[in-house]
Amino acid sequence: MTAEGSKLWGGRFVGATDPVMERFNTSVAYDQRMWDADLTGSRAYVKALRRAGLVSTEEMGAILRGLDQVGEEWRKGAFVLRDGDEDIHTANERRLKELIGTAAGKLHTGRSRNDQVVTDMRLWLRDAVATLTGDALVLISAMVERAAAHLGAIQARPGRILYIEPQLLQSPSVLFVVLLFREIDVLFPGYTHMQRAQPIRWSHWILSHAVALQRDVERLQEIRKRVNILPLGSGAVAGTPFAIDRELLRKELCFDDVSLNSMDATGQRDFVAEFLFWASLCATHLSKMAEDLLLYSTKEFSFVSLSDAYSTGSSLMPQKKNADSLELIRSKAGRIFGRCTGFMMTLKGLPSSYNKDLQEDKEAMFDCYDSILAVLQVAAGVVSTLKINPGAMEAALSPDMLATDLAYYLVRKGVAFRDAHGLAGKAVFTAESKNVPLNQLTLEDLRGISPLVESDVASVWDYAASVEQYAAAGGTAESSVRAQVQQLRAWMARHKPQTQTVKSADAE
Ligand code: ARG
Repeated sequence: MTAEGSKLWGGRFVGATDPVMERFNTSVAYDQRMWDADLTGSRAYVKALRRAGLVSTEEMGAILRGLDQVGEEWRKGAFVLRDGDEDIHTANERRLKELIGTAAGKLHTGRSRNDQVVTDMRLWLRDAVATLTGDALVLISAMVERAAAHLGAIQARPGRILYIEPQLLQSPSVLFVVLLFREIDVLFPGYTHMQRAQPIRWSHWILSHAVALQRDVERLQEIRKRVNILPLGSGAVAGTPFAIDRELLRKELCFDDVSLNSMDATGQRDFVAEFLFWASLCATHLSKMAEDLLLYSTKEFSFVSLSDAYSTGSSLMPQKKNADSLELIRSKAGRIFGRCTGFMMTLKGLPSSYNKDLQEDKEAMFDCYDSILAVLQVAAGVVSTLKINPGAMEAALSPDMLATDLAYYLVRKGVAFRDAHGLAGKAVFTAESKNVPLNQLTLEDLRGISPLVESDVASVWDYAASVEQYAAAGGTAESSVRAQVQQLRAWMARHKPQTQTVKSADAE
């Protein structure tokens, strides 16, 4: 059992803590990640204590030097945790006292771990948000630059190629050719309900995921506003009775604002919950992309193949190349969601102000941060190294995917869309009955369905022309995809991650 007199809060205790309780209560194993934020908060706080006349200039100097020394020990990996170091706050203060003696005891004047811990978390999360913004921007940029006009290369066997004149391949000496293509020209099926729907650009698919991430970055910036509020000076629940200049603390720690109410500042964790939800949503977006790519990378689709750098093999089946990176991206969404839900359950039903239940916030925050950061980084690697197979993509286009275009052809001849839809549906049915592709119906077949069909209907059966119709903003025509690229690039230029001037917790 630990002698309670040695604890920060030991004064009123006579009995010792059960070791099981001791372990149950401690958070230092994980909250030591905030060692730097904790020291940063203390450095600012001792300055406020000095201004309030609660420590002398000499004491402030000793405390500041001591805090620097504690920081050095952490940086070098030389900080030794001792029994009774309940959390990072107690550990740092215990060490400070060992280094500078009694002056250390003045540092906590008017401060509670309740306002200290939430200050540390906000400092830590602010840096984490900057790191995540940077990594999300890297991923968006990888997507945008791929979509723009990235030149891809494929090695193909003569006779299985879509992009080259067949005469060029007559020579028996040609076994493989390397073909260059612009990714923006590559078409493949757009699916709805997992059924082939309409031809789209591959770039359009990539950008659809970039745009979702763009909103994630914006949401993150929104969250930052609510994270970047100073709670220090709120004490345990009632505020501080001393002349602590909270505006000085705000400036020292580069917070945008000072919390308005001490009970709210110490007892609420909505900024954590928002972050966990943010991570859940961002992971959900990337899980959707991963799921598409997993499917596209199957032999059955063969639209894409993952770089070896992001694949793994099987210990049993030598031929296997598994897209573990994508599966893990998909699975992290579940993990992060679980953390978010779990923490919401912790918050639900808590009474006002600080309760020890809130100690659970940190593992949720760290774990979601670690997971989503890894997801963003791996996704960027996957996207930028992915090989695409334009031949397989275009081979998956089928004339029935142009049935909507046939309806639009009739609309342009003056038929109401509802009727045109019915007529094009009849054409699909006829083709199926005759067991021919839709574009193989004869002019007579089509004229039998609608006399408005003329020989110019042949222009409908062209995938490249089909996608070019979708030139309105947001569509899959080249001009529209280029406009998306341009807007995303301009947006990226405006969204550089914010850097802090205070050296606080590095989001490791
Ligand atoms: N380790 C605690 C936490 O993470 C610090 C605050 C403890 N405050 C208290 N009064 N017990 O929440």
